[in-house]
Amino acid sequence: MIKVCFVCLGNICRSPMAELVFKDLAEKEGLSDKFEITSCGTSSCEAGSAIYPPIKRTLDSHRISGSHIARKITKTDLEDSDYILAMDGENIYELKCMSGGKYSDKMYKLCSFTDKPRDVADPWYTRDFERAYCDVFDGCRAFLEYLKREAL
Ligand code: 4NP
Repeated sequence: MIKVCFVCLGNICRSPMAELVFKDLAEKEGLSDKFEITSCGTSSCEAGSAIYPPIKRTLDSHRISGSHIARKITKTDLEDSDYILAMDGENIYELKCMSGGKYSDKMYKLCSFTDKPRDVADPWYTRDFERAYCDVFDGCRAFLEYLKREAL
């Protein structure tokens, strides 16, 4: 079982989107039983909130279903996850601060697995939800291909 934890700041936009997109890709490849997939935020600012409605609408438009309630990352997430996949460099910085650098070897930016390593721009500020979806989809697909080559 490969434990994957997607991380952003608030856990209402990018990381729950990545969680649901990755679950969908894994299911379509018949690989759901190989994974334990979750998401969380580096902050508790949105803890308890549902997925941000414009993100939910974007997922719906791509026929990706599911729900998530925002939560802040815990020590257990850091300890137990095999892959901690952050959306941007600031997320990685926060993760390293809270873990004292301990789990750096399993922290990656999601889009570092793609041909064009980049941050997933925060749609909370850009308001470009489709662009966030494209980055997240690209990152999830590249990450799954990486696992199929290296770990599955
Ligand atoms: P996320 O987006 O980190 O992709 O979930 C944000 C959500 C909430 C806030 C910032 C970013 N906020 O400042 O409340």
